Amino acid sequence: MKLLLDKAHIEGIRFFDTYRKNGGYTAVEKALKMSPDEVVEEVKKSGLRGRGGAGFPTGLKWSFLAKPEGIPRHLVCNADESEPGTFKDRYLMEFIPHLLIEGLIVSSYALGSNNTYIYIRGEYAWIPDILEQAIEEARSNGWLGKNIQGSGFDCEIYVHRGAGAYICGEETALLESLEGKRGNPRIKPPFPAVKGAWDRPTVVNNVETLAAVVPIMNMGGAAYGNIGVGKSTGTKLISACGNLNKPGVYEIPFDLSVEEFIFSDEWCGGIPNGKRLKACIPGGSSVPILPASLLLTTSTGEKRLMNYESLSEGGFATGSMLGSGGFIVLDEDQCVVKHTYTLARFYRHESCGQCSPCREGTGWMEKILKNIEDGRGKMSDIDLLWDIQRKIEGNTICPLGDAAAWPVAAAIRHFRDEFEWHVTNPQEALTRNYGLANY
Ligand code: NAI
Ligand code: SF4
Repeated sequence: MKLLLDKAHIEGIRFFDTYRKNGGYTAVEKALKMSPDEVVEEVKKSGLRGRGGAGFPTGLKWSFLAKPEGIPRHLVCNADESEPGTFKDRYLMEFIPHLLIEGLIVSSYALGSNNTYIYIRGEYAWIPDILEQAIEEARSNGWLGKNIQGSGFDCEIYVHRGAGAYICGEETALLESLEGKRGNPRIKPPFPAVKGAWDRPTVVNNVETLAAVVPIMNMGGAAYGNIGVGKSTGTKLISACGNLNKPGVYEIPFDLSVEEFIFSDEWCGGIPNGKRLKACIPGGSSVPILPASLLLTTSTGEKRLMNYESLSEGGFATGSMLGSGGFIVLDEDQCVVKHTYTLARFYRHESCGQCSPCREGTGWMEKILKNIEDGRGKMSDIDLLWDIQRKIEGNTICPLGDAAAWPVAAAIRHFRDEFEWHVTNPQEALTRNYGLANY
């Protein structure tokens, strides 16, 4: 069942007329006939969880929004999609921009936001024009601006371009950047729902989360909540990449098994050249890597499914996370040490430097991993790496610290023998021809 990409194949769906002719903006029509609280109630009933990575219940987040008399509130769409392996929001914005705009109008109405912002990553340089054109089309057809469709509700949507910093995807760094300051994360609490953009109550939601509000309104929250498995309701966009025959963006049902997703021709079509599956990072670079054995089957021997609960079953000892849905597959030729080094280098580069465990720890991990990768590592380096990641996790202002620590921890936990092999076979490790995994 497709709820987000059901119209993606229609020629011209990027433009207002086609989108409207194919049932677009009915969610706004429906919402405007309800009270804002009733719309929030529908989203609560749907069980929708944040699609950016954390999976926080959207209706609950909305109900946290403070409403002090006379103070404006804001909705901010987090389109700073920068998690390595994650490119599903880009697809939505590029090909079905009106789905996001429609979701934003419904959500702005529910939350009482008259000025709503889309904060988009700088590298998505061509997409702001697409969004601004969609906004202009919506405005000229009476779906944005003053007194939308005669409802008395006013709403403007502004597109704000980021400048290419991963940390600006962290919601409080994003707000700092939106305000024109350096994108340094703030200490939480206070959460943005109480003190957000310009110190006003603010809800920050991911692109896919806001787009999902459209089917929720159209079918009703309870009906949406009945689709899926347990607390994984609705559908999820997955960006699949790495060693796959058919990488791309897929809308999956939550009862799909990981095995079927990777190997079935209906989905990713298996691994090129008949190679074996070695490992996978199922939810964007920050979540733990899993070897094939733990990826396909849970610790209780059941097939692992592509949903929040199943992917995290067993905790980090044997499980991982659905995260942002950035699904990175590694075949048997890939080197986990090299891969872990690449990620460590990324997090060191993207650390804002405010907290010493993250600022110093990411740099140390990068250097140690580089030494091991280059054949200059010692056995004691593996334990040192483990020790450093333990000291970063949970000791920083924002989740970037954890995001840098978890991949290192999981790589050592599941592939320690590969680190040891690098230490004992430095020359061979350096000269071995590793395959390519693009993500
Ligand atoms: P979080 O778990 O700290 O917060 C989730 C959301 O719930 C936030 O919006 C927070 O404000 C809200 N919240 C939590 N408790 C609250 C309370 N008591 N009152 C009011 N609001 C509350 O996680 P965060 O920092 O939003 O996201 C981290 C995740 O982001 C990671 O798991 C990672 O997978 C993902 N990520 C995604 C990226 C992407 O490109 N899509 C990039 C980097 C990370
Ligand atoms: Fe900055 Fe890292 Fe601290 Fe986050 S954890 S605030 S990125 S130094």
